[in-house]
Amino acid sequence: MTALYPGSFDPVTCGHLDLIERSSRLVERLIVAILRNDGKEPLFTVEERIEMMREATRSFPNVEVDSFDGLLVDFAARRGAQVLVRGIRALSDYEYELQMALMNRRLRPEIETVFLLAGEAYSYISSRLVKEVIHLGGDIAGLVPPRVEARLKSRLAGVK
Ligand code: PNS
Repeated sequence: MTALYPGSFDPVTCGHLDLIERSSRLVERLIVAILRNDGKEPLFTVEERIEMMREATRSFPNVEVDSFDGLLVDFAARRGAQVLVRGIRALSDYEYELQMALMNRRLRPEIETVFLLAGEAYSYISSRLVKEVIHLGGDIAGLVPPRVEARLKSRLAGVK
């Protein structure tokens, strides 16, 4: 079975990595699919996000990293994925995830969405909050991989 784990990953957090580890144990092949979402004005370019994700997932032999634009389910079909993986941190994630999963099911009923629970230690982490905290001078050690923390620091030092 091939699964696809999509997201913006701007940047990858330890919560994402926890989910990647969990899902990579369930399937033969896991493709992490990074959205080329220029419209969302990401902090990192898609090439930077791919590089950070590849560095962070190097120890998982059945995980590969790719990027996509257009419809997620079409990309999943092109890559031969039967399953989409999404993480649920709290009840507040559920409504948005339900909408997306049902829309994706309508578009391609043969592709199943599977929800995994984030590890409780990571359930409050989001890329958005990590960026906000580091921007305001807070400590984000342990919330993102060390190389990502270094990149965030140098990126924001350049911005200020
Ligand atoms: O974790 P994120 O950053 O909120 O990821 C959102 C993502 C990439 C899964 C979603 O925006 C997406 O699938 N975008 C691709 C466009 C698409 O297929 N839209 C219809 C989905 S219902």
